Amino acid sequence: MSERMALMVGNWKLHFTHIEAIAYVQKLAFRLTDDDYARAEVAVLPPFTALRSVQTIIDADRLRIRYGSQDISAHPSGPYTGEVAGGMLAKLGCTFALVGHSERRQHHGEDDALVNAKLQAALSCRLTPILAVGESLPVRQAGNAISHTVNQLRAGLAGVSAEQAADMVIAYEPIWAIGTGEVATPADAGQMAGELRAALVELYSAACARAVRILYGGSVKASNIRSLMAQDDIDGALVGGASLDPEEFARIVRWPAQS
Ligand code: 13P
Repeated sequence: MSERMALMVGNWKLHFTHIEAIAYVQKLAFRLTDDDYARAEVAVLPPFTALRSVQTIIDADRLRIRYGSQDISAHPSGPYTGEVAGGMLAKLGCTFALVGHSERRQHHGEDDALVNAKLQAALSCRLTPILAVGESLPVRQAGNAISHTVNQLRAGLAGVSAEQAADMVIAYEPIWAIGTGEVATPADAGQMAGELRAALVELYSAACARAVRILYGGSVKASNIRSLMAQDDIDGALVGGASLDPEEFARIVRWPAQS
């Protein structure tokens, strides 16, 4: 950590109706204190159908929880059945748009070019993209984790200016650690975050690289967050399963107090 504000993001994936989302946000907000918000920015990524309800409760109760989408269309509008555009998400008060999650790459055939188009779509609507990158187990076993992940970063950022990049969030999520209970060692995760930051120095500048927040994702829990946050280049976490329990997610947000 450094001058960068920590960021803890709960990716709900395919969980919670809009009714359940309201209850969740209330429970999470009840557990978070001024100290927590002073230490970390807290955000949730609900399914599209819950965004309006999350916006309503956050606005009505003036909560400091931010929110965003799990995906975004590469297109601003048009004949794209089933898609949701950045302008619609911005109107719902979203701060973030996640792009390039490995589950979208795997199950929906999203390649680097599409991820880049989605990232550009987010930027054009003033949403902060969270660009997810990370290697599969075979890629790691072949010793290519760093080159693979850095290449995904470069491709995802094609055409993005230094000014735009400084505001972005990168999430390193090794695929083999997602939902498996198998977390990367803090040293490995920290090394990858360092490589990603070095690539940002090369692509842009040292100042830009210093500003970008890099998250780790993959089986993050209250019991392992502290050692991950101890890594210089890890600024927060993108949390799946453990974020579904507001109590556990609040503990993750309060990482210095965990063992
Ligand atoms: P888990 O925390 O369930 O491993 O999921 C990580 C993830 O994919 C967050 O985007």
